Amino acid sequence: MTITPWWRDAVVYQIYPRSWADSDGDGIGDLPGITARLPHLAELGVDAVWLSPFYTSPQHDAGYDVADYRDVDPIFGTLDDFDVLAARAHELGLRIVVDIVPNHSSSEHAWFKAALTSPPGSPERARYVFRDGRGASGAEPPNNWVSMFGGPAWTRVTEPDGTPGQWYLHLFDTSQPDFDWSNPQVHDELEDVLRFWLDRGVDGFRIDVAHGLVKADGLPDTDLGLDAANDATALAPMWDQPGVHDIYRRWRRLVDSYARSGEDADRILCAEAWVLPGEALARYVRSDELHQSFNFEHLMTPWLADDQRAAISRSLAQAASVGAPQTWVLSNHDVVRHASRLGFPQQPGLRRMEGIGADDPQPDAALGLRRARAATTVMLALPGSAYLFQGEELGLPEATGLPDDARQDPTFARTNGVSPGRDGCRVPVPWESDAPSFGFGPGERSWLPQPAEFGDLAVDRQRRVPESTLELYTALLDLRRRHRLGRGELTWLDGYPDEVIAFRTTSADGAVTVLANLGAAPVDLPPGATVIASSAPLRPDGALGTDQTVWLLA
Ligand code: NOJ
Repeated sequence: MTITPWWRDAVVYQIYPRSWADSDGDGIGDLPGITARLPHLAELGVDAVWLSPFYTSPQHDAGYDVADYRDVDPIFGTLDDFDVLAARAHELGLRIVVDIVPNHSSSEHAWFKAALTSPPGSPERARYVFRDGRGASGAEPPNNWVSMFGGPAWTRVTEPDGTPGQWYLHLFDTSQPDFDWSNPQVHDELEDVLRFWLDRGVDGFRIDVAHGLVKADGLPDTDLGLDAANDATALAPMWDQPGVHDIYRRWRRLVDSYARSGEDADRILCAEAWVLPGEALARYVRSDELHQSFNFEHLMTPWLADDQRAAISRSLAQAASVGAPQTWVLSNHDVVRHASRLGFPQQPGLRRMEGIGADDPQPDAALGLRRARAATTVMLALPGSAYLFQGEELGLPEATGLPDDARQDPTFARTNGVSPGRDGCRVPVPWESDAPSFGFGPGERSWLPQPAEFGDLAVDRQRRVPESTLELYTALLDLRRRHRLGRGELTWLDGYPDEVIAFRTTSADGAVTVLANLGAAPVDLPPGATVIASSAPLRPDGALGTDQTVWLLA
């Protein structure tokens, strides 16, 4: 019998630790809070948990600025708390994936502090990307790159003797200096960090900015501005350079050396790589590289039947071309929640990724939720693995009314408020409708204010309530597992109107027909079909309504 590794069809639930559950009432979620709430995930029926960073950090980018890769930040707990969390997760049958942030450290990292007190050309500086400035007095940045969070990608330091000095590269915030991956010490250090967490029993890593580690030789100017950086292509000198693949081949050998036995053998690596086209992305999941890479192209695809079909077909073919499964995702901590993203008019080619401010056009909440449920019902039937973002199982919308003084994402400040940033999807999760902070913590405190409408969406308002979003997710995950849909083959079905996404997923354990109606007119279901799941209540005439997806045994 052939063994199919667990990750090829796993459903992984992303926890953003500061916003899931707060045990001590300081308004910031923490590891003991997570441990206490893990039964929610066992009941939901996911296979694994991915934890965004909880390492020692000054929190200038919510923990994606790591000062010590081998410790837990006191706001989240201790290493012992991590061990308790991991043991409890494993007891509940949940695997643990942690984040690794290898493109940059925090400016509070011991290495960067040593770099600042060491002279230009020193080994301490050589772990980061320090360069002399341009112009007679070196007062111009070494090249014209811009930061992903707005403003220049370079900051000038003051040398220990008080004179204006070299510049260091930061593709993100000034507090996130990029490592220099041409330095073998950087390789050794980050590999050692992987070993540290593998030894503690983690089942895998999500790799932050996986496409950014290696920069083009000579750090050439680029005429691709910030927008182009969002559309990473092989042309941009900071993204998707061939050298990143050598790093991941080494990492694959490393995690493989930690393999256990049987279906559970593998410890996995999943890339966060905003790389287009999909053929370039597929290179990250060749059999000797990473196991998974998020399919952001699908995430960005408008809710239009032609676009959806094309994106699904293309991405399945691209993954298959290297023998990898596809990794689907609709929401995470960096993008507008799909229950809001889909609440805007949909147009071919339109990507609505930026945060939403109080003065921006607002999404239609009911429409967005209806479409989000329909989109998830499509996604969870697709072959491959799927990642869910905390709170999407409750149908949480983006919090669009956050006051400016509550916003903490560095994007907001670095763009002088032009971009609202990503706080809107990071608001703490509601558990109990009538409790202070909706049960997020023991008291009122919550690091971002929770919108009043979160109360009606709390877990206790949805658990065992027929047709709630939480019950929909639970049912879909159960059926997906029973029919092994993630291990299935997809076949497109003919005979439906163009506005209907129609396919069948067939696995060794069953076959399910999926119909999603993105058109205005109701569509009749095939005669004799049994509906086993539906993203919305069935219409009295039994037809499939607009923005409704069903799973059928037909
Ligand atoms: C991607 C992470 O998901 C995001 O939250 C972070 O700001 C950047 N990488 C920089 O680490």
